[in-house]
Parts: sequence; C-alpha cells; structure tokens
Amino acid sequence: MNILITGGAGFIGSHVVRRFVKNYPNYNIYNLDALTYAGNLENLKDIDDKPNYKFIKGDIVDESFINKLFADVDFDGVIHLAAESHVDRSIEDPLAFVRTNIIGTVNLLNAAKNAWKDNFEGKRFYHVSTDEVYGALGEQGLFTETTAYDPNSPYSASKAGSDHFVRAYGETYGLPYVITNCSNNYGPYHFPEKLIPLFINNIMENKSLPVYGDGKYTRDWLFVEDHARAIDLVFHKGKNHDTYNIGGFNEWQNIDLVKLLCSVMDKKLNRAEGESEKLIAYVKDRPGHDLRYAIDATKINKELGWKPSVTFEEGLELTVDWYFDNSDWLSHVTSGDYKEYYKKMYT
Ligand code: NAD
Ligand code: TYD
Repeated sequence: MNILITGGAGFIGSHVVRRFVKNYPNYNIYNLDALTYAGNLENLKDIDDKPNYKFIKGDIVDESFINKLFADVDFDGVIHLAAESHVDRSIEDPLAFVRTNIIGTVNLLNAAKNAWKDNFEGKRFYHVSTDEVYGALGEQGLFTETTAYDPNSPYSASKAGSDHFVRAYGETYGLPYVITNCSNNYGPYHFPEKLIPLFINNIMENKSLPVYGDGKYTRDWLFVEDHARAIDLVFHKGKNHDTYNIGGFNEWQNIDLVKLLCSVMDKKLNRAEGESEKLIAYVKDRPGHDLRYAIDATKINKELGWKPSVTFEEGLELTVDWYFDNSDWLSHVTSGDYKEYYKKMYT
C-alpha cells in the first residue's frame, strides 16, 4: 500500500506517521508537509531513515503540485491531517485557515477522486477533524456523531467547511471517505502555543501562566498516542462514508488542569508545593471562547473496541517527563532553530 499522510511533521501527524512506519513495514508512507511554523521534522528524527518512509515538502493549496503528486504515485489511501490548527491564530488571520483547511482539503479530494474514479475499491480518504465543529456545550450533554455543526471560531468554521466538502465528495462522486472528530490532544511534540506545552515551558522558565477569562472553560483531553491508535483502527476497520467521534471521557476545567500541572511541575522542579501556582495570571478572554467541549466516544468503543489507554494523570506525567527529557527539542522550537533541521537533512 502507498499511503499519503498530510501534516505528518506536525504534532498529531508525527505520531501517526511514526506509528504507521513502525507498525506497517510493508506500507510505503509518504509524509507531505509544507513545514509551516507548526511543522518540525525533528519530530520524526527517529524514523526518517526507515526504508518505507519518504518526506515530501509541499503545500496542499498548490493544485498543480498536488495533481502531479497523485499522477506520480499510485496512492491507496490518504490520511489528511494538514491544517492550520490554532484557534488564537485563526482570530488573527482567518484567510490562512480558509486556504489550507478548506481549499487545501478540496484540492486533495479532487486529486484523490480523479486518481481513483475508475475504481474506488480498496481506496480510502481519511479526514482528521475536530470536536470544535460542533460548537460549544452548556454544562450538560456530550457531542455525538449526529450533533448538528455549529462552529464559532474561524478555525472551527474552516474545519466544518472541510468536513462538509469531504461528505459532499462522498455523496456526489462516491469517494470512499471516513471522518473522525477528536477532542483536545496533549502529549510529546506539542507545539508550545497550545495550553499544556505553553504552560510547561512557562513554568520551567518561571514565566506567567495566562489563563483566559475566569478559567472555567472545559475541554476533554486525550493523550495523543491514543488518538494515533484510533486513527490506525479507523483507517483499517472503520466503515466508509461514516464518522466516528474520538475523546477521552476526560473533562477538565482549564483552571483545575493548570493547578494539577503546576503541582506535577513543582515536584519535578523540586519547588515547594504551590510555588508554580503563583505564576497563574488571569488575562483577557479569547473572543468567542467556547464554554465546553465533551465527546461521546461510545460508537468507536462499541464498533471498533477503542478506548483510551492512559488516565489523564498518567498521560500528563508522561508528557511532563518528555518535555524535561527533550529540552533540546523545546529550545529549538522556542528559538526557531528547528527550521534548520530541514535545510541540514534535506537540501
Ligand atoms: P499542527 O498545527 O501541529 O500540525 C499541522 C501540520 O500541517 C504542520 O506540520 C504544518 O506544517 C502542516 N501544514 C499546515 N498547512 C499546510 C499546507 N498548506 N500544506 C501542507 N502542510 C501544511 O496540528 P495538529 O494539532 O497536529 O492537528 C492535526 C490535525 O488534527 C488537524 O487537522 C487538526 O484540525 C486536527 N485535530 C487536532 C486536535 C488537537 O488537539 N491538536 C484535536 C482534534 C483534531
Ligand atoms: P488550546 O490549547 O488553544 O486548545 P483549543 O482552543 O483548541 O481548545 O486551549 C485550550 C483551552 O485553554 C481553551 O479553553 C483556551 C485556554 N487557554 C488559556 O486559558 N490560555 C492560553 O494561553 C491558551 C493557549 C489557552
């Protein structure tokens, strides 16, 4: 099998690429990534010499490049993760999100449809999406696969748009697709602009921890390797033209999560209990901040037997340990030096 994974140099994509390269030596894994600020080939240092792995630098928005790629390689499957992924950036620059998340996705859909249209048998377009397309929950309830889309941020609106296009290609052209909508991920290789890695880095550096609004916003956190395992399962066993929600059954109010993280960090840094909490600073809220996300992951559990493998406490401990053990990775990311890795290795 030739599998195209897009966005494989990013946070979740790098875990998916590593898993597929290691677990399926008989597959050829092509990692297509534009290496935006979020793409970092150091995430894949340990596997980049494997014979079944190939990195391709390219932009999914570039139609002729994508068409040529599909003409050059006979792909059996696409696992599409490439995206602009940060809500705060989407508030600053929504068009960047429209370009990559909507136009880029439609480019890929077109190329796959054209390459496969004579025989869709055995082909699959797997679109990786987010629970944020469902909008915000109140205090009660969970997102199921049939919850109506109601996105609030430019990021979630662009992901919702891409999901609609994937389904439209399924209905209109018969393209075999599957979509998963996952809750917030955390773990190794997470870019330190998102809550958990940003706060780990800030605690290490004794910088303040900017908690938006009153900190009472709720997210459902999933360890990234559990997401990669779910993607593997759905890619191989999921039903075509179907959707699966993926989540941790693990809701945390931001402020409680931050306090837990502070206490884990105090122990690692041999600080007195309560020391890191002093860094918490309540700051101006994010505009349009969604109150609560929470996934009902019953379907993927019942149909495919998937469930998270680690508790949040275990996953957070693993994550914090990883950031301590990989201070080079973190300093390359925060200083921007990670951009040199591509030049050194690939040019
Ligand atoms: P990320 O920002 O860490 O990685 C995105 C990757 O896509 C980067 O390597 C980047 O270089 C690449 N990319 C961006 N624009 C591109 C373009 N135009 N062409 C080619 N490559 C491009 O994101 P992530 O957190 O790993 O998320 C991956 C996917 O999973 C996204 O589709 C996101 O919407 C989805 N998702 C993320 C989460 C989460 O908690 N992080 C949760 C659910 C779903
Ligand atoms: P984030 O990691 O950006 O993920 P998402 O917006 O996709 O859920 O944010 C997680 C939660 O943490 C969200 O409610 C916003 C909040 N947050 C802060 O309070 N401070 C911060 O500096 C960041 C980055 C996020």
